[in-house]
Amino acid sequence: MSQDIDTLVAGEYFLAVEGYAMIRYCVTDPSAARPRVDEMRQILARFEEFPNSLVIPLTQHSVEEGYTEWAPRYDGPNPAIDLEEPIVRSMIAAAPPGEALDAACGTGRHAATLAEFGHRVIGVDTTEAMLAVAREKVPAADFRFGRLEQLPVEDEAVDLITCALALTHVEHVAPVMREFERVLRPGGQAILTDIHPVATMTGGIAGFPDRDITRGIPYVRNLTHQVSEYVTAFLDVGLSIVACVEPCVTDSMLQVFPSYPVLPDATRQAFLDTPYLLIWHLERPAPA
Ligand SMILES: C[S@@+](CC[C@H](N)C(=O)[O-])C[C@H]1O[C@@H](n2cnc3c(N)ncnc32)[C@H](O)[C@@H]1O
Repeated sequence: MSQDIDTLVAGEYFLAVEGYAMIRYCVTDPSAARPRVDEMRQILARFEEFPNSLVIPLTQHSVEEGYTEWAPRYDGPNPAIDLEEPIVRSMIAAAPPGEALDAACGTGRHAATLAEFGHRVIGVDTTEAMLAVAREKVPAADFRFGRLEQLPVEDEAVDLITCALALTHVEHVAPVMREFERVLRPGGQAILTDIHPVATMTGGIAGFPDRDITRGIPYVRNLTHQVSEYVTAFLDVGLSIVACVEPCVTDSMLQVFPSYPVLPDATRQAFLDTPYLLIWHLERPAPA
């Protein structure tokens, strides 16, 4: 599929946010959930009025088409990146410099950090427009076109892999872990970040609207990988888990939820402190 166009009625989205907030609180703290019912009544009473009546086009793109369109402004403000970057940076800082692979490198965000910490960097991605930005940003790195499932990298060629915010776009994690195990040297490490399954299961998409969201939301679909899928894929290829971190939605991130300007309290109750990212630090054990 290249483009799949649908529409979202804003009032329906607002009701969904109210309902999500309610399910979190109606049993454990019913008095906190009651204002949600009042707001739902108001939404339904004015369903044909602005902003509830807004019909927003949603355009689903394939990975390559979506990131080709997104590439020129991908490096703009992004709350997922603000949440993720300090954690990944501290993990990279703790690893000894060597050969590094930024898998699904996009515009070279982590490739730049790897180079800064003294690694010789290979970056691989399937979207040429993202690679073009990366090549400008990190001229010293070797950027290659390729897929996570079939990396254009020799066996046991790297000491450290980063793979950020991309596994949510692959059907299955297992084939990618087989590739990571193949290209990692014994004793090598991998740092993986992804959208948390709780976020993908509650409507989280890789959306890239321009500032005026009412003109439409182009997006790439996020697929859900449960924690057990990752762990099984790691165990199957003998990758050990060094650490697992689950950063949650923070107060400052709430503003990116489209319901926030209209329903700040419901948006806070629905999303605050819910898991947003899943970060793994792995190791390919060296033989004893
Ligand atoms: C959200 S961006 C993340 C880019 C970068 N890792 C970062 O965190 O800034 C996702 C990237 O994954 C790439 N991607 C998605 N599926 C891929 C696949 N199967 N093989 C290689 N790259 C892929 C896309 O082209 C895109 O550049």
